[in-house]
Amino acid sequence: MAVSIPHGGVLVNRFVEPKEAASLTQKAKGLKSIILSPREVSDLELIADGAFSPLTGFMNQDDYQSVLTNMRLSNGLPWTLPVTLSVTTAQAASFKAGDDIALVVGEDILAILNIDDIYPFDKEKEAKATYGTNDMSHPGVAYTHKLGDFYIGGTISLLMRPRQKTFLEYQKTPCQMRQLFSERGWNKVVAFQTRNPIHRAHEYIQKCALEMMDGLLIHPIVGETKGDDVPANVRMKCYEVLLDNYYPKERTVLSVFPAAMRYAGPREAIFHAICRKNYGATHFIVGRDHAGVGSFYGPFDAQKIFQKFDNLGIEPIFFNNAFYCKKCLTMASEKICPHDESERVSLSGTRVREMLIAGECPPPEFTRPEVAHILMEAMSKKKGQ
Ligand code: ADX
Repeated sequence: MAVSIPHGGVLVNRFVEPKEAASLTQKAKGLKSIILSPREVSDLELIADGAFSPLTGFMNQDDYQSVLTNMRLSNGLPWTLPVTLSVTTAQAASFKAGDDIALVVGEDILAILNIDDIYPFDKEKEAKATYGTNDMSHPGVAYTHKLGDFYIGGTISLLMRPRQKTFLEYQKTPCQMRQLFSERGWNKVVAFQTRNPIHRAHEYIQKCALEMMDGLLIHPIVGETKGDDVPANVRMKCYEVLLDNYYPKERTVLSVFPAAMRYAGPREAIFHAICRKNYGATHFIVGRDHAGVGSFYGPFDAQKIFQKFDNLGIEPIFFNNAFYCKKCLTMASEKICPHDESERVSLSGTRVREMLIAGECPPPEFTRPEVAHILMEAMSKKKGQ
């Protein structure tokens, strides 16, 4: 298989031509505006870059309802998560379909949105469909309930990129990523999503996959994550040190995925796969409790959901629960290791946090010492603040 075809067939590009940008920005100054939240800013840029192809803007009501009910856009294409722009009731009353409005952050007018429709939405219904729960302790449910009561759907035209100060050297648009894969002559590329430091289990499943591929794309999410996740700047240091010491440079690419984490488990696994297809990956790793949080999803629900989609255009690679086995003397998984659970070195996120807070180094069977040191240093700085 050559590098994959974008979802829907065409890689979306919603940047205005540089020669038009100045006059459109001038025009946008006279428009009514909406101030974007950090998640909306990252969605906006991902739409413009084509990472969310075939979306050309924030979802209108038809697509939104179809996504909630059928996990497909209104044209039948698989799509599992709402990508929406919320406004208050008062704002909704001041706009009408057909209007152009400015999408703003601070002093910057980032984009113009041509309004397709304005519609109220049911927060409980959205949360239940997307996250499978209405429990407010789920970060996605809490986020949904804080939104304004209306959504605005419509196509966007990006005037300027949001100002970014971090990870610039690791930013690659889907178009640039495809170019890179083609320069490297990779036909089979496996993408790995993560919101965590890479531990030995992550490394193991990546390398098992890489055995059968031409290249590995390590694609950590660096948009909004919940407060107790390891911050992206610390994680990036962990990825760098791992790549320097343990990964084949000619077969690995580290790049950032600037989306917000939704914690939608199974639905987010499909969404993550579709986005990586847009970046050109042909295969996508789904392990244990992908994009899960707490115990809201079964450990393999995010794998089972792929059965509902015949032709996603990116091949999922599933992994069982991975760990170090003291009897096998190697990394293994439930699929290949016959030994008792008591032989496994596997730590929960909570246990790792406790160890780091106590200044204890997690064992090398769990995490590479270089990564452990970065995490311990970050934790001690945090404690000192
Ligand atoms: S996620 O929210 O981005 O999915 P995380 O960064 O922990 O969380 O996981 C990245 C990928 O590795 C996901 O596909 C996840 O299912 C997988 N994974 C994490 N830990 C394990 C493990 N011990 N065994 C198998 N797969 C795992």
